[in-house]
Amino acid sequence: MNVLERLGVAIPVVQAGMGGGLSRHELAAAVSEAGGLGTIAVNGAAAIERELAAARALTGRPVAVNVLLPFARRDWFAAAAKADVVVTFWGAPKRRTPGVWLHQCGSVAESLAAHAAGADAVIVQGVEAGGHVRGRTPALDLLARVRAALPSDYPLLLAGGIAGRDDVRGALEVGATGAVAGTRFLLSEESRAHPEYRQRLLAAEDTILTELFGFGWPAPHRVVANAATDRGLKRDLRGPALNRALNRLTAPTARYTPVQVQARLVSAQRPGSRLLSPQGPTDDGPTSLLDAGPLYAGETVARIVDVRPAAKIVGDLTPS
Ligand SMILES: Cc1cc2nc3c(=O)[nH]c(=O)nc-3n(C[C@H](O)[C@H](O)[C@H](O)COP(=O)(O)O)c2cc1C
Repeated sequence: MNVLERLGVAIPVVQAGMGGGLSRHELAAAVSEAGGLGTIAVNGAAAIERELAAARALTGRPVAVNVLLPFARRDWFAAAAKADVVVTFWGAPKRRTPGVWLHQCGSVAESLAAHAAGADAVIVQGVEAGGHVRGRTPALDLLARVRAALPSDYPLLLAGGIAGRDDVRGALEVGATGAVAGTRFLLSEESRAHPEYRQRLLAAEDTILTELFGFGWPAPHRVVANAATDRGLKRDLRGPALNRALNRLTAPTARYTPVQVQARLVSAQRPGSRLLSPQGPTDDGPTSLLDAGPLYAGETVARIVDVRPAAKIVGDLTPS
């Protein structure tokens, strides 16, 4: 039995945690209730506890919580450990839960480190993924290399490029235990993406890999163009050198900046600001982020043509 089957997850489809509150209890519960594994991604221990309780009220099935290691404090892990699965990303892999632990990785070296640290499975992220992108190679290529480097029965999940059942089938055929989809579920009725953000994604054909939105977290992210990228990426797709230097300087503060201060900074940012935060536009956040914030999306955005209920998306992704 693989790690998903042991949890009682019947369909090998995982909804990626989408941070800053883009994926909350409504989405996670709908995905889990439909037979996949839904993931909550919010900031702060109180928010994690609140969202997990709300998800538990909607489904008795397993639910995951995502924790971004550059931001997490000790109490976030304590709250997240009450979920059935903790998914970590971006940092030194370390077990923080007695339950199931998955770590998302962008290279063979990182996957070996996560395996050595005792992760129950690794999510292999390809460069085509949306949001923050650790992968440097296409997901299927990286999966093959990680598969060859780790024991043959060690579970691997694949993230990046998953928008339909053929993608999931393709991942399983090359040895994945399951497939992780972010952008497809962002374009669901239950995601907390701002409605206009969803509309911009539906109209988009292309994505950009940039470091522009790296305030407090200097990392590449895949986004759709908006006024901030039009202004900020004229010379260099990574973003202006001064912005990137400021992003690096502010990185150590990410974990310690109070949530209220972060919210004020996010509200104040405009296209052309030197400091552009990684907060995406939610339906209850500042509308200014539609043009001043990151419109995260993976390359699959070019293939996604509608906003659907999450349960239908799980059905669409189920390999028959
Ligand atoms: C809007 C958005 C936000 C994301 N936020 C997070 C996050 O907070 N934590 C995380 O581990 N991964 C995050 N990711 C990356 C996903 O875990 C996953 O690698 C990615 O969604 C897979 O590519 P796809 O979007 O093309 O399906 C995010 C992805 C998107 C699209």
